[in-house]
Amino acid sequence: ESAWESLRTAFHFQPPNNWMNDPNAPLFYNGWYHLFYQYNPKEAYWGLISWGHAVSKDLIHWLYVEPFAMVPDQWYDENGVWTGSATMLPLLLDGRGRGPSITAAATTSLEKEEQKRRWQQRREGDAQLIPGIMYTGSTNDSWQVQSLAFPSDPWEEDGLLVQWEKVADNPVLFPPDFINVTDFRDPTTAWWDDKRSLWMMVIGSHLRPTHTGIALLYQSADFLNWELVPHKFLHLTQGTGMWECVDFYPIPTSGEPRGLDTSVSEWAGGVKHVLKASMDDTKLDFYTIGHYDTESLTFTPDEEELDLGSGFRYDWGRYYASKTFYDPLLQRRILFGWVNESDTRDDDIIKGWSGVQSIPRQVWFDNLTQNSLIQWPIEEIKSLYNRTISLTSFTLESGGIFKVEEAQGAQWDITVSFTKPTLHVEQGPFMDDDSGGAVAPFFMGCNQNEILSRGALGPFGVSVLSSEDLQEQTRIYFYRLFMQENSTSNPSWKTLVCNDLSRSTMASHVDNGTYGGLVTVLQDEDELMLRILVDHSIVETFAQGGRTVITTRSYPTIALDRLANIYLFNDASTSIEVRSLTVHELSDINIHYIN
Ligand code: FRU
Repeated sequence: ESAWESLRTAFHFQPPNNWMNDPNAPLFYNGWYHLFYQYNPKEAYWGLISWGHAVSKDLIHWLYVEPFAMVPDQWYDENGVWTGSATMLPLLLDGRGRGPSITAAATTSLEKEEQKRRWQQRREGDAQLIPGIMYTGSTNDSWQVQSLAFPSDPWEEDGLLVQWEKVADNPVLFPPDFINVTDFRDPTTAWWDDKRSLWMMVIGSHLRPTHTGIALLYQSADFLNWELVPHKFLHLTQGTGMWECVDFYPIPTSGEPRGLDTSVSEWAGGVKHVLKASMDDTKLDFYTIGHYDTESLTFTPDEEELDLGSGFRYDWGRYYASKTFYDPLLQRRILFGWVNESDTRDDDIIKGWSGVQSIPRQVWFDNLTQNSLIQWPIEEIKSLYNRTISLTSFTLESGGIFKVEEAQGAQWDITVSFTKPTLHVEQGPFMDDDSGGAVAPFFMGCNQNEILSRGALGPFGVSVLSSEDLQEQTRIYFYRLFMQENSTSNPSWKTLVCNDLSRSTMASHVDNGTYGGLVTVLQDEDELMLRILVDHSIVETFAQGGRTVITTRSYPTIALDRLANIYLFNDASTSIEVRSLTVHELSDINIHYIN
């Protein structure tokens, strides 16, 4: 019994109980951050979904809000209030001033004038912005349609946005005739097209015969009446299947790491756009970086080989249905993602819960690699530090293992830096057994455990949630390989980073795979860095300053709470230099109801 309780996270957001999936409509309003989430309040598995609601001052310490923001109470969302996004709008009142009188639709010509003026002000940043939510309803016939909701009284009585109202004109969008009526979901945050004075928004779907993932592009003058643009798509990619939870946002390409409001399409220092889709076929969140052409209203990836589905992923582990929002308070873009369980449904029923949200990550353009994103836990996590252990400069001999003393527990923020180990290829095979040649054939993923068990330059790294006898341990490691990425490329040194679950639990029925991928290490970078967040049953790895991220779940049966240890290990045949190790113990967040 207590073993199950020890698996619940201490500083990640979870609902009080039962099932949670996608993060919905994250936003900042009136001094508070809001997070909504796909919630089945009745069971620890997916079912009839409502919108749970939580608020926070710092994106770390949350308060549950009751009642739920939205429940399935209309014909058009009777089968579930599914995923949606918020857009900050300069809303008009219809004259009565509050409550249900809020309308996004300007009806009279005077109102239309006023509406235009406000849209204009919006750009200048001095209109009062109220969040509107566009979400997918699954109807009584299981069609997928889009509907709008607004806070009932965002001005005075209800500054926390507890009460939401679905507008009378719902649903505002039905699936177009060339797609499946059950594959039309998850509208993005809308952006304001200044040139054409229209709101723009994307909804994901796919074209069946060709298995082409599509981002349907819609426009609206009043946020209520939407039409497909004549060319239909912002972007599409063959062979990628259904796109869920599309996200589309601008990202500055120079200067300090910062974010931009979703409506910004020009920026002095340069701007690119990020397009993300959650691929239903693989349950992976892919993104690509490219150019949004505001004339042709199309998006083109910078590099064709890095198009959506074949290029970057936010995360190499268990991470799905993510969504960003622009935080106007600290001018940054924040990413939330759903991390589901990798135990069984029966386990979830016994635990009484399933699903957590990742620690919010700040995302920005990687100025060094110039083609990908950096993801990094938000600064506010430091408010949870309560004890720090620091070590510098020591050597891990080949085969060595080093126990971090006084580090018993399951709540950590660990940073470790190693000197990048190197080897001249001429010196010998890339592995020290005789199974390989000097060159690893093609790309080797983390899931080739037998091959990756012991080489010249790996694996070495950190072992967390480890029992004293190391019977149970979750290993996070680097592995340097001299290899070809594909059959035509020349071999070169590559660095793999992996979360290895093969010994993470004595339980036999849970996922024990190894997850990870390549991480870019530039020629002149002489250290390899890992930052690892550990929270009972979740391990989030940020490699090389956030270039590659891996989130996995561990379900230890012995290495729980104070019986969990931290070790450094080196299974490479060369010795490894540890430059520094910093281990912060993290406090609980104790989520309560607000009242
Ligand atoms: C993604 C998803 C969305 C949908 C929601 C339903 O996990 O399937 O496409 O809107 O979850 O809960």
